[in-house]
Amino acid sequence: MSPSPKIQATTSVYMVIGDPIAHSLSPRMHNAAYQACGIDSVMVAARVSADFLESAVAGVRALNIRGLACTMPHKAALCSLVDTLDPVAKAIGAVNTVVNNDGALTGYNTDWLGIQRPLEKRLALNGRRVALLGAGGAAAAALYACGMRGALVTVFNRTESKAQALASQYGASWSGLDATCDLAQFDIVINTTSLGMSQSIEASPLTASQLHRHQVVFETIYSPRKTRLLSYAEQAGCQIVYGSEMFVEQGAAQFEIHTGALAPREVMWGVVDDGESVSG
Ligand code: ATR
Repeated sequence: MSPSPKIQATTSVYMVIGDPIAHSLSPRMHNAAYQACGIDSVMVAARVSADFLESAVAGVRALNIRGLACTMPHKAALCSLVDTLDPVAKAIGAVNTVVNNDGALTGYNTDWLGIQRPLEKRLALNGRRVALLGAGGAAAAALYACGMRGALVTVFNRTESKAQALASQYGASWSGLDATCDLAQFDIVINTTSLGMSQSIEASPLTASQLHRHQVVFETIYSPRKTRLLSYAEQAGCQIVYGSEMFVEQGAAQFEIHTGALAPREVMWGVVDDGESVSG
């Protein structure tokens, strides 16, 4: 545990908001990064229910909170509560980062970088066939990240109409999602469904037999660290990418937007490796 930062009257205050928020590692990760860079800032967490989101945003202006990190369930709603929406956040339809410049709030999205950067460390995306599981906000970020690099994405979702709606925005293919889907032709599988999270730890969006040795399997869930899907993927001989890698990358990009300084990724990784659970 790193020592507490020296908080003083001039310290810039950032907040991570969500509901639930108690297990978020964002304050520890960002505070360690501020300290490592000698930046006079602090991040604290606030549980904000959906009913109070609008008041919370008014409070950001009133209290001159310097910026926000945002997690579930506020990312979509924040799009209409900021003054300016970055074009990428607009395209994805979700805000996870807010900057407050003298009362003018700008909303950004860094989740897509949390998906694109770890994938590109493993392989070039151009021309790769991607099976994207889920059709919510995280799926929109993944589709943006892969689509801009020329990957060929198929959206698989339990509710087919949502798969179709998301895919049609990018000219991608779509399908229902169940145990009969044949994914053998895909190079990359990205899970953005909530199946396998702490509340449904035994669940997986795919069966073991739907995964193949040549595939990279990317998980966006970070708690638990190794989901049932990642265990199946490991057994099948796939290359796996933990959700914690996405968490650090989206947080590093967020730190850079908030502070203008280069993120100390090693320091941020150290915090996440120490943590028992990880959430935005
Ligand atoms: P996020 O914004 O984090 O992506 P979300 O918008 O709530 O979260 O999306 C959750 C995704 O998990 C959806 O694609 C959802 O599928 P539906 O559109 O059919 O609801 C998927 N999901 C949640 N529970 C599921 C389940 N039991 N089986 C299959 N998919 C599930």
